Amino acid sequence: MRIVIIGAMGVVGSALAKYFDVFSHNVVLNDVMNGPNIETNLASCLGREDMIFVCVPTPSKDDGGINLDIVEQVTRDIGRIARIKKYDPSVVYKSTMIPGSTARMEEILITYGLKPKVAYSPEFIRQRCAFADMLAPSRIVVGSPDEEFADSVMGCFSGTEAPKITFDCYEAAELVKYYANCYYAARISFFNQMKQFADKLGCDHNAIIRAVVEDKTVGVHGSDPTGVPWGGNCLLKDQSAMIKYGEELGVYTRVLKSIQDMNNLMIHKNKFKSSDLTRWA
Ligand SMILES: NC(=O)c1ccc[n+]([C@@H]2O[C@H](COP(=O)([O-])OP(=O)(O)OC[C@H]3O[C@@H](n4cnc5c(N)ncnc54)[C@H](O)[C@@H]3O)[C@@H](O)[C@H]2O)c1
Repeated sequence: MRIVIIGAMGVVGSALAKYFDVFSHNVVLNDVMNGPNIETNLASCLGREDMIFVCVPTPSKDDGGINLDIVEQVTRDIGRIARIKKYDPSVVYKSTMIPGSTARMEEILITYGLKPKVAYSPEFIRQRCAFADMLAPSRIVVGSPDEEFADSVMGCFSGTEAPKITFDCYEAAELVKYYANCYYAARISFFNQMKQFADKLGCDHNAIIRAVVEDKTVGVHGSDPTGVPWGGNCLLKDQSAMIKYGEELGVYTRVLKSIQDMNNLMIHKNKFKSSDLTRWA
């Protein structure tokens, strides 16, 4: 397979590039930054690929909502180039995007007179061990109303044993990422909250945690007993985007807000620096 990765110098893009390289795909790397084997001119990358993976940033806006400007710009660039080169692109979005975003990107591609194939595939790697996670993913999720294309995207990951979960729409796949990150943040905040009781009582929080997570219905993930608030690039960004999205939809987000309040309180009270928080990223 010939695969173009847009945003190939980033955490997700570079891990994906290495992963595809391991499985002998022919990978073309695009980024706005210069780097080894990077082609900065997107037009020279496109035209002969089987699939394009979009891995560009989706930062927070000032109000906490998600800023899709870069993904949108890249989508317009793909549309423009594909129209000039007269072919219908196949695009897989990996960037974390609020539900409805992939459908919006598909609409943009269609405005260029194209019949694109589009899928959304959330990425679950952790920043601190991106390539190791990419090589041993917990699961591969793909959402697309185009069943055949979803299967082709899954085919790119045939080298991995991980469970493969397909959705017949973009939105469910987009939501998987937000469920996962909000839940992860919730667990960390929950255990951090409980630690305060152990500390007040002079009990060993770590020993309590070990006893609690023996229960398989509780599980161990995110329960490292450190008393460190969550942080890093993604958790706050994704939490905030979901709260903002909830406001737009008229959905109650009180639990999400209190998880964030709890975390902010810990950061300020104990004067944590952002570098202290990346252990969860
Ligand atoms: N970092 C993680 O662990 C992680 C995990 C899962 C999902 N995500 C999501 O994946 C997306 C990318 O995150 P990241 O951490 O890899 O970001 P990053 O900032 O590390 O990398 C993004 C890359 O995109 C490049 N870029 C920016 N604009 C571009 C453009 N117009 N054309 C081509 N390249 C461009 C940047 O130069 C950079 O190299 C985000 O939506 C993020 O939320 C990140």
